Amino acid sequence: MEKTFLMVKPDGVQRNLVGEIINRFESKGFKLVGAKLMNISNDLAENHYGEHKERPFFGELVQFITSGPVFAMVWEGENVISIARDMMGKTNPLEAASGTVRGDFAMTVGKNIIHGSDSPESAEREIDLFFNENDVLSYSKQDSAWIY
Ligand code: PPS
Repeated sequence: MEKTFLMVKPDGVQRNLVGEIINRFESKGFKLVGAKLMNISNDLAENHYGEHKERPFFGELVQFITSGPVFAMVWEGENVISIARDMMGKTNPLEAASGTVRGDFAMTVGKNIIHGSDSPESAEREIDLFFNENDVLSYSKQDSAWIY
């Protein structure tokens, strides 16, 4: 079953949106298999956002993501990577549709509430970066093929 890494960024934690965001993904039908409230070190931030190293906002991005606790999560379900990206909305909240997390709660691209892996490769890399193998659980809820 596909897994993705999602993270409520410091602005989402400060604005008490952790529960709202968990609720959206649970209600959709996905399964939470890992979660923790944590501070991100500079090294972890630079590694996580390494592909953006040359971009002008890199320093600002690292400073922001290390500015306060984040809520890191692993979610599981069919097509969870792309469906979660749709549920998050476009990176720039100006372009994010209503009904998406960013469309409903964010106003600027720098503080856009949530991060989500954009491919199977980045999901695997980001889950490994943030979680120990033992902290991503495998469990069943019901004996039903359509409840993940
Ligand atoms: S994406 O998702 O890769 O298509 O988006 P992209 O525009 O390349 O942005 C990558 C991440 O950088 C954040 N970002 C910024 N942070 C601070 N200031 C500015 N100006 C800025 N522009 C983009 C953006 O929110 C993306 O973060 P994540 O956590 O990956 O969503």
